[in-house]
Amino acid sequence: MLKPIPIKEDLFYIGVNDRTKHLFENLWPLPKGVSYNSYLISDEKTALFDTVDICYSDIFLQKLEIALGGKTLDYLIINHMEPDHSGSLGLLKTRFPNVQIVGNKRTADMVQGFFGITDGVKIIEDGEELSLGKHKLIFYLTPMVHWPETMMTYDTVHKIIFSGDAFGTFGTLDGGITDAQLHPERYYDEMIRYYSNVVGKFGSPVQKALEKLKAFEINYICSTHGPIWTMEDQIQKVIGIYDKLSRYQGDEGVVIAYGSMYGNTEQMAETVAYELAQQGIREVILHNVSKRSHSYIIRDIFKYKGLIVGSPTYNNKLFPEVEYLLSKIEGRDMKHRHFGYFGSFTWAGAAVKRLAQFAQDTKFEIVGSPVEMKQTMRQDTYEACISLGRAMADKLKQDR
Ligand code: FEO
Repeated sequence: MLKPIPIKEDLFYIGVNDRTKHLFENLWPLPKGVSYNSYLISDEKTALFDTVDICYSDIFLQKLEIALGGKTLDYLIINHMEPDHSGSLGLLKTRFPNVQIVGNKRTADMVQGFFGITDGVKIIEDGEELSLGKHKLIFYLTPMVHWPETMMTYDTVHKIIFSGDAFGTFGTLDGGITDAQLHPERYYDEMIRYYSNVVGKFGSPVQKALEKLKAFEINYICSTHGPIWTMEDQIQKVIGIYDKLSRYQGDEGVVIAYGSMYGNTEQMAETVAYELAQQGIREVILHNVSKRSHSYIIRDIFKYKGLIVGSPTYNNKLFPEVEYLLSKIEGRDMKHRHFGYFGSFTWAGAAVKRLAQFAQDTKFEIVGSPVEMKQTMRQDTYEACISLGRAMADKLKQDR
């Protein structure tokens, strides 16, 4: 039996850890697992904030019963309907048939669509309030962070923002559940990976949500994944991470993402990287797209403002893994990257042409001259790669 974890005298953590799934959304690796966070406020009325993935409904419902301590469940506040949070909703409704399900119009549509539930659904508007007794909840619609129905809920007593996916991270909660009980720095890269992989397309809605957050004092950020943020410096830090990522602002550094079948195109990547380092760029990250999960490549592309992509020609097209990566970058409406590219071919070149098209479609600023290599590296290609590395370094240094 697992017990709920008290955060305050009337606030409980009843989330769960998932150390079993290999892929989040069946796409993104989970080497450190993930938590599905759910919370209960126990006042004159009781309110549950989101549920958990259906795989963990048994343990979740047990913890909920203990946290309720004999009370009934009055409200389920749904901040987000993606099944990693709504998965246990159907079972919850069976266990507590009189629970009021609270969400906005779009939530109600999804509750009906996923679960066939139409009764006991309370539709709220942006800014509407709900009293639990001592606690007053205020609902703020934050569409597309990360689905159209997403909202955040503010508790006026403890000054908590229940933020849904926002400020969430991959990684389980091992022992501690708050930033003060854990090493928060273990989670920052996993926060960036979560954001860039899952929410990354929605920079503008995230900016609007951050604007709304400015209106209130925040002592706790209770996200649906990862640690609860309670320390003032950590709260500022994670809001800052979100602000920067959603404005597509990168740090000084370059991601070189390349495909290579037999090592020839890789030599181009190595040469560009060498020159970047010679020019004083310390953050240079080479990713072999066939070996490294794209999840981490996307994370690093969000972190750094320089991006260089290289590819061999394959079946008169781009190398398939490179094409797949480009589709993920385009799918996130990535902006504001300094972009360089290179490619190779053996008998007929196509890769460089496709990379030029990608640069045009994304409106990335092209840096340096593209390099195209036939078969293997010779002195002229070497020098062209050096020039590309130097041009990118110069561009980054101009931004200092
Ligand atoms: Fe954690 Fe958008 O679900």
